[in-house]
Amino acid sequence: MATSTIPFARGLPGIGSVIDMARDTRAFLTDSYLEHGPVFGMRLLNRHYTVLAGVEANRFLAREGTRHFRSFEFWSGFNAWFGAARSTLSADGAEHAAFRRALKRGYSREYAVERMDGMIDIARQEIAAWPLTRPMPAAPALQRIVTDQVGTLVGGVSPRAYNDDLVRYVHAVLSATLVPSPHLRWSPRFRRASARVDRLYREVIECHSGSMRERHGAEPDLIDDLLDLHEADPRFFPEADLKLAALGPFVAALDTVAGTCAFMLYALLRHPDVLERVREEADDLLTGSAPAAERLRQMDTLHRAALETMRMYPVTPLLIRTAANSFEFAGHRIPAGERMMIATAVPHYLPEYFPEPERFDIDRYGPERAEHKKPYVYAPFGLGSHRCLGNGFAEVQIAATMATILHEVDLDLDRAGYNLKTTQFPMPAPDESFKVRVRGRRGAVQPLAERKPWSAAGGARGVLAGGALWGALGAEAAREAFRSFTPAHLGRRTFIR
Ligand code: HEM
Repeated sequence: MATSTIPFARGLPGIGSVIDMARDTRAFLTDSYLEHGPVFGMRLLNRHYTVLAGVEANRFLAREGTRHFRSFEFWSGFNAWFGAARSTLSADGAEHAAFRRALKRGYSREYAVERMDGMIDIARQEIAAWPLTRPMPAAPALQRIVTDQVGTLVGGVSPRAYNDDLVRYVHAVLSATLVPSPHLRWSPRFRRASARVDRLYREVIECHSGSMRERHGAEPDLIDDLLDLHEADPRFFPEADLKLAALGPFVAALDTVAGTCAFMLYALLRHPDVLERVREEADDLLTGSAPAAERLRQMDTLHRAALETMRMYPVTPLLIRTAANSFEFAGHRIPAGERMMIATAVPHYLPEYFPEPERFDIDRYGPERAEHKKPYVYAPFGLGSHRCLGNGFAEVQIAATMATILHEVDLDLDRAGYNLKTTQFPMPAPDESFKVRVRGRRGAVQPLAERKPWSAAGGARGVLAGGALWGALGAEAAREAFRSFTPAHLGRRTFIR
């Protein structure tokens, strides 16, 4: 029989638990779970949430999520900033399944593996510009690399020239989705960033209109798939929803993969023994001649280090939902319409599943212990129908990026013994105080233009057109060249000009 009193997490009058959440979201949710059990209430400013936490909550989300939860209310606020009524994240049921099908190929692990050498090339170019011996904030440097990789290789356009505006826009919009921000629209900085993001979108569409794909012999990418979907069924996928979906690759990795890489870099610099083991594998990955998939399979230490990073420093420690149908959970009745938070990363720090949870221990993932394989305890990519569609892509990207860094440079923490400080909004990440120094370069970095195209068949479009052209002509000239290379009259897709 369901009881009615749901305990409440600690908080302050007026603001609720905002300060504790801002200090360390994952830790606060774990502490609240240990104090109150698997269901508790929480207020963040003027919003009330019912939180479900622990392994039972993860199991419930995975098994019953489609029946009892929906994502629409939370994500539709985010969609609106892009003029969209729907997105994969906000859709549920049959519509959601159709969206996922359309995105599947472009975000797949296989697609990423084929482009792994392209990811390495992009990382190399960025790392070559890292200053010698001067302290450098690590998180923004990693953000530039991963945004460029996923934008170039999945979206077909390098967002390098847009990076700061893109980050500013996405962070502002995500924060405004979490906590209403009625004046944001009028901020001149935000408006400028918004105009730049619009321009990036137009560039993406321009470079996919016409017969670019045929002329370059490149395989279709995510944007081609989206445009095909729109053409095939403009009522299901209208032009107004295209912008958000097409900017997806530019947004998806910006905080998730970048934050994970930054956390991983910190963890490795604090564990030099693991760093050296990962570096040996990295040297093989970057110098070996076996196919990318084979080289990746041999990155066992790096893979384990990534798993341990995502356990200890989950960048998405919670998911937001609305109760679509009333239900009972752990003796409590949750009414339909309730705003829900599922604290998916709480089991990551429960010693019954991960002994000594505060210890960075990559041996947890060996075949003898395999702690992450216990059902529903390990959920860095979420659970259920909305589980991250890019998880395989992200794993390849993390491996390629971290391996390239370790292969190319010797790094030190700016301050020996530095203890990590984080920011939590809009997503957990190391803050600006996490700085590294390049002690030295480990080998000559070959300029991109002198190297062979990285891709198998036609994937060269991203790096050749977006990279070599960029390097040879400069950003503005390269964009111009790209534009003139895509005359509108060639386009079978000319609906956006
Ligand atoms: C470490 C890196 C990443 C983490 C931790 C992560 C985490 C997540 C999580 C937790 C969700 C579920 C959100 C929810 O249920 O509300 C999600 C969804 C999604 N992710 Fe990721 N993500 C990562 C990287 C990526 C990358 C690189 C891509 C694409 C290239 C991507 C594409 C997506 C998409 C398209 C969805 C929506 C799936 C759906 O609604 O069905 N993610 N991600």
